[in-house]
Amino acid sequence: MGKIVAANWKMNLRRQSGCELASALKNDGRDCWLFPAYPHLALVHDALIGGALKLGAQDVSPEEDGAFTGDVSAEMLADAGCTLVLVGHSERRHGHGEHGATLLLKLKRALRAGLKPVYCVGETLAERKDGKAREVVTEHLATLIELAAPDRNELAAVAYEPVWAIGTGETATPEQAGEMHAFIRGELAKHGMKSLPILYGGSVKPENARDLMTQPNVDGVLVGGASLELESLRAIDDVAREM
Ligand code: 13P
Repeated sequence: MGKIVAANWKMNLRRQSGCELASALKNDGRDCWLFPAYPHLALVHDALIGGALKLGAQDVSPEEDGAFTGDVSAEMLADAGCTLVLVGHSERRHGHGEHGATLLLKLKRALRAGLKPVYCVGETLAERKDGKAREVVTEHLATLIELAAPDRNELAAVAYEPVWAIGTGETATPEQAGEMHAFIRGELAKHGMKSLPILYGGSVKPENARDLMTQPNVDGVLVGGASLELESLRAIDDVAREM
């Protein structure tokens, strides 16, 4: 049935380049998930009309509409045409100090607005070296488990993104990814989320996409840098479609 390819464009691209990428992918008949920056969401949404791609935001406010300067609410994202949202990306956890209670609120706001969260987890290099990778991932997953059982079924995916592999060019080996994905699958299964897709993220490129996606519990990839170029994103998606 193919694997999932999600493109996190982070704070990159412009209206024109984002829309051109989106249109080209739509014209190819692809069904990737795209996460543009806030100012590009509505335009990319329009570029995707009639296609099978899904649109998501990179973050969401934990608050409802109101006096929260600089924030963007879940209702606004749904109104802009999003159906997905990233929650707990490591660049939010480590760059903006977002953790459990805030992330739980974000998940709840997103779900209430009808958005399906992609919830990101992953350890730092220091935590891995200390032998704490599983402990950290378990702690991150604990936030999901605080959701009411029916809400857990509304999630889009969990993304395992080891912080040491993000934007560094250093990828987890397929074995490291496979081992952690199997662990995450077991943890999710304990809480009724057995079939929730688990994506791998961290320096995914056309050259390593196949080895990563052939791991049994890797249901797809969340791609940063390599998703900014049409050719590399196409190449990764071609691999995903063969599976
Ligand atoms: P890179 O693919 O650039 O390492 O980014 C991964 C990521 O953070 C996707 O969310």
